[in-house]
Amino acid sequence: MIGLPQASSFAPRVDALFDAMLLLSVIVIGGVFVAMVWFGVRYRHGSNADRSGDAHRNLGVEISWTLIPLLLFMALFAWSIWLWRDLRIAPDDAAPIYVVAKQWMWKAQHPGGQREINALHVPLGQPVRLVMTSQDVIHSFYVPAFRIKQDVLPGRYTQMWFTATQPGTFELFCAEYCGTDHSRMGGKVVVMRPAAYARWLDEHAGVGLAARGAELFRRFGCSGCHGTQSSVHAPSLENLYGSTVALSGGERVFADERYLHDSILLPRKQVVAGYAPIMPSFAGRIGEEDVLALIAYIKSRGAQPEPIDGTR
Ligand code: CUA
Repeated sequence: MIGLPQASSFAPRVDALFDAMLLLSVIVIGGVFVAMVWFGVRYRHGSNADRSGDAHRNLGVEISWTLIPLLLFMALFAWSIWLWRDLRIAPDDAAPIYVVAKQWMWKAQHPGGQREINALHVPLGQPVRLVMTSQDVIHSFYVPAFRIKQDVLPGRYTQMWFTATQPGTFELFCAEYCGTDHSRMGGKVVVMRPAAYARWLDEHAGVGLAARGAELFRRFGCSGCHGTQSSVHAPSLENLYGSTVALSGGERVFADERYLHDSILLPRKQVVAGYAPIMPSFAGRIGEEDVLALIAYIKSRGAQPEPIDGTR
């Protein structure tokens, strides 16, 4: 990727893998073409080449030209899995930022209430975890300088994480055709040194996400059933985030953002063991940004430490 800065900790690793694939492919395709031309010339019509067949059979050559490429390509496969695994599993200390995509803009919300559109401010050298969803169709969050891309789907949370390694401003694109203005759906990722970033957060602090969620929790009547005084038999939300929840079907799920999101919008999907499926669905009644605020509020009511293996 000539001319494109390597601005995240993944960038040099993705480039190295890409270069290795390119090199290996060039070697293989070069070998195939050289052999093709050589055989074409040697066995052309009218040449007096030896055509007697399998007298020259060489098992060693046949095994090695099968086995060596196989091992090389399997090594590439293992290399990709190793990189993919690191790309997928965010470290526990990664700071969450919530992203909602809609035709045709990117909206970001920070836990401190900072909101931005078509811009994302992140700290230099610190892992950031994006929790993303879409309000309408499928979009894709793509920052070429970071070598990261992740589809953003309606009704579902997808995650992506990175550590920026260069201060500066980098292009953000939507990489999934999403309608008329798809090509204009983009923005800037601004990487700031930690002190400047802390200042930026201070200057743009708003009503914190969790505080906004607490207000919505009352307004939508959630407290009527999930409140401590409530007479309705509904699961407690204390220390819920990051815990393991037993479901009525016998399975167990890890209570991450995705679980909380689905429990609000599709409450019948995963019913907690010992509770009746009486919660009304809030699909169509609550926008994705409000769901994020509610989740931030639930998280603020105590959180278990996240599991070390990163299973979500
Ligand atoms: Cu959003 Cu393309």
